[in-house]
Amino acid sequence: MPSTNTLNRYAARSWHVPDHGDQPVRIVVADDSALFRTMLQTMLTEWGFEVSTVADGREALTAMSDSQGPLIAVLDWEMPGLNGIQVCKEIRQKETLEQPYLIIVTSKAQGADKVAALEAGADDYLGKPVNEDELRARIGVGVRTLKLQHHLIRSKHELRRALVETQELITSISSILIEIDENGKICRWNQAAEQTFMIPASRAVGCSFAEVGIQWDWPTVMDAVLRCDTQKTHIRLDEMTYDRPSGKKGFLEISLNPLVSESGNRWGILLLGADITEHKQMEAQLALAQKMESIGQLAAGIAHEINTPTQYVSDNLRFLQESFAAIQTALDALEELYHTVCTGTVNPSTMEQAKTALEAADLDYMREEIPTALKQSLEGAERVASIVRAMKDFSHPGLIEKKPTDLNKAIHSTVTISRNEWKYVADLVTDLDPALPLVPCLPGELNQVLLNLIVNAAHAIAEVVSPDGDQKGTITVSTRVDGEWIEIRVADTGPGIPPAIRNKIFDPFFTTKQVGKGTGQGLAIAHDVVVKKHGGQITFETEVNQGTTFIVRLPLHDGVHKKACS
Ligand SMILES: Nc1ncnc2c1ncn2[C@@H]1O[C@H](COP(=O)(O)OP(=O)(O)O)[C@@H](O)[C@H]1O
Ligand SMILES: [Mg+2]
Repeated sequence: MPSTNTLNRYAARSWHVPDHGDQPVRIVVADDSALFRTMLQTMLTEWGFEVSTVADGREALTAMSDSQGPLIAVLDWEMPGLNGIQVCKEIRQKETLEQPYLIIVTSKAQGADKVAALEAGADDYLGKPVNEDELRARIGVGVRTLKLQHHLIRSKHELRRALVETQELITSISSILIEIDENGKICRWNQAAEQTFMIPASRAVGCSFAEVGIQWDWPTVMDAVLRCDTQKTHIRLDEMTYDRPSGKKGFLEISLNPLVSESGNRWGILLLGADITEHKQMEAQLALAQKMESIGQLAAGIAHEINTPTQYVSDNLRFLQESFAAIQTALDALEELYHTVCTGTVNPSTMEQAKTALEAADLDYMREEIPTALKQSLEGAERVASIVRAMKDFSHPGLIEKKPTDLNKAIHSTVTISRNEWKYVADLVTDLDPALPLVPCLPGELNQVLLNLIVNAAHAIAEVVSPDGDQKGTITVSTRVDGEWIEIRVADTGPGIPPAIRNKIFDPFFTTKQVGKGTGQGLAIAHDVVVKKHGGQITFETEVNQGTTFIVRLPLHDGVHKKACS
């Protein structure tokens, strides 16, 4: 059986309130009877408490205000100066969470007295003479209450700290954060929102979201808010244009997220957004850089393409020049002969001269060759003209607005200027739907996509054909209408794409080619142009050792891609 002392020490440990270290709960005993004070002090000290005693109410107040940490006060009702009840009232005037636990001790044992004591702010009531077990039990209740109180205070501090941290976090994040409550009013508007829209939080918070004064496409935003609210689903708006406070147009990326409380009844919307104007400008610069790069790469090939027809045009012109010299000599001799005939005398030497000149001019040969030379020269000139036209079409200045475009023609131009890239390794076949309608698009950027796909196809085929070129692969470019979409396919007879890299090929800067041949941007840009800028799709079908087909699908009308997205 444990000794009373062990029991007391064990009990004393449980008198501690967390976070107050080894310090046990302090008890102030206020009683004008010295005997009672000593008796209580002995008992409580033995139980493990730190006890101080005072003889009247004023001293009790001072002792309590001097004390730090959890405190129980055992107050006699009747005392000189302030009585126990007055001390309770005084203490309870302070509206702090950290309050002492107050026990009134008195020989007044009437029900009305107990009520008066509790109403004055006492937590408990103990009759005199004090029964030791009852005192211990009631002090135990006090300690339990102080522990709960302490727990509450700590939770409150933690909550406040978390709140401050959250506020700081919200303030410091660079994304726009706007919270809209269930009545459509703004209840949170962070610093990024202030800076982006130049509207201070003091003006925005409490204001109706719809009337806060952002200059953007409100029908689209409100439609998204409505869908987010009714479907309780996350909605993303990728490229929202808005008027920046500077007056210029800017781009935002926005997501709307439904806020639902744990109980599931309260709703609101959290709008997160980022200004992506600079990002878009950089993207455009990157696209332009890639375009310049591919034009640079193509330049040598194009020069070669122009050189060949130029070469045979000039060969033919030289032939025509020489032929004309011979014909001219024959014509001169014939003219002289004509004059002598006109004078009525035919000079045999003039006849001989004319005959020799006609023979030298080799007229039969000329009759055959000159038209061919002329025809070839015209074809050569037309070839040069068509390359120049294709270059002009290809380097179509970047448009911001889409315009109805003849994609078959775009394919012809791209095939023409990229000829030198593929002609040594592949034959290029086109299978273009003559009834293809005009497609709303950014022609310059789509040309770039076509070029990237054709050059990739040529590179792929180059991996599998022998360098001497006796056996070529095939690139097939086709177009067709498929319902509300048009489809462009670029198929090659290359090695196919190995399964291990199939999910990486659209990543920016992913390339399997050596430096100088690939930068890994072709498909990333193609994806961006087709998916983001045209609401289309770009996919591929591939089979190892058979080849690859890239499929670009573009919506014929703007509404198509919205339907496809939803
Ligand atoms: N038609 C194709 N056949 C096989 N592999 C391809 C084909 N097109 C693209 N790839 C693969 O995808 C990678 C990324 O292509 P791309 O983005 O155009 O960059 P790059 O051509 O500069 O490497 C290529 O390096 C290649 O491994
Ligand atoms: Mg490429």
